[in-house]
Amino acid sequence: MKQEILKITENIRIAENVYRMTLEGPELEEQKPGQFVNIRLEGQFLRRPISVHDSEPGRLVIIYKAVGKGTEQMGRMAAGETLDVLTGLGNGYDLSKAGDHPLLLGGGVGVPPLVKLARVLREAGKEVQAVLGFNTKAEVFGENAFQETGCQTTVTTADGSYGVKGFVTDALPEEYSYFYTCGPEPMLRAVYKATRTSGQFSFEERMGCGFGACMGCSCKTITGYKRICREGPVLEKEEIMWDD
Ligand SMILES: Cc1cc2nc3c(=O)[nH]c(=O)nc-3n(C[C@H](O)[C@H](O)[C@H](O)COP(=O)(O)OP(=O)(O)OC[C@H]3O[C@@H](n4cnc5c(N)ncnc54)[C@H](O)[C@@H]3O)c2cc1C
Ligand code: FES
Repeated sequence: MKQEILKITENIRIAENVYRMTLEGPELEEQKPGQFVNIRLEGQFLRRPISVHDSEPGRLVIIYKAVGKGTEQMGRMAAGETLDVLTGLGNGYDLSKAGDHPLLLGGGVGVPPLVKLARVLREAGKEVQAVLGFNTKAEVFGENAFQETGCQTTVTTADGSYGVKGFVTDALPEEYSYFYTCGPEPMLRAVYKATRTSGQFSFEERMGCGFGACMGCSCKTITGYKRICREGPVLEKEEIMWDD
């Protein structure tokens, strides 16, 4: 983990209440797919965790939905302003289990962390399929980014206003070697039930400190309690225990 002051070089609206922010800093290291950063905002006690959408040395891109005070404040920030950011957080996805034709399943703001994963898997020669789920057409983003990586991409909307009508679980392909998923908890539960292979889930739980000190993000797994911010946010399908 590193604390850095990063400069905003872009902050634009890309869908309804959804923004893409690019941050730059000379010391910024490349982040792994599935890792997250934790952002300090003026007047807010807790930092706000946001997944890495894209990253290379010196540059980091995040995509976030304005849902409350912190993220709305981020939406009003402009290029040239700076943010205090903890980088290099979380375990990230384990790519070694992907097999030769993995499936990526993203819902809403669970879509952004899967783009870098898609690119890295494609660079490793995998045939990647992606299913992206949204509520309605105005909320759809990211389809081009997946297509540019060479993934076979399907979009679903719950109201049928774009792509396949329904949820990501209504558009699962017949064949895939493994899966990676990120999205709201009801979607993750549905994916857990509907998938027939092993896979990895990224949990975007509420957090306190974000770096393992407060235990505020602990969840029960078959191998004991894990801190989502430290031993997660990515958990293997086989270790998950859902609260009923
Ligand atoms: C590891 C991790 C990665 C994340 N990645 C992303 C991302 O890439 N893009 C993105 O848009 N969001 C992401 N989130 C969620 C994001 O952190 C929250 O939306 C944000 O902290 C809300 O802050 P706020 O001050 O705007 O809202 P608040 O004022 O704190 O809350 C406003 C509303 O949002 C709900 N809310 C707050 N936090 C969460 C949460 N974690 N999950 C679900 N609902 C929440 C609250 O219950 C409330 O209804 C991630 C969360 C985690 C833990
Ligand atoms: S948020 Fe504090 S331990 Fe995870």
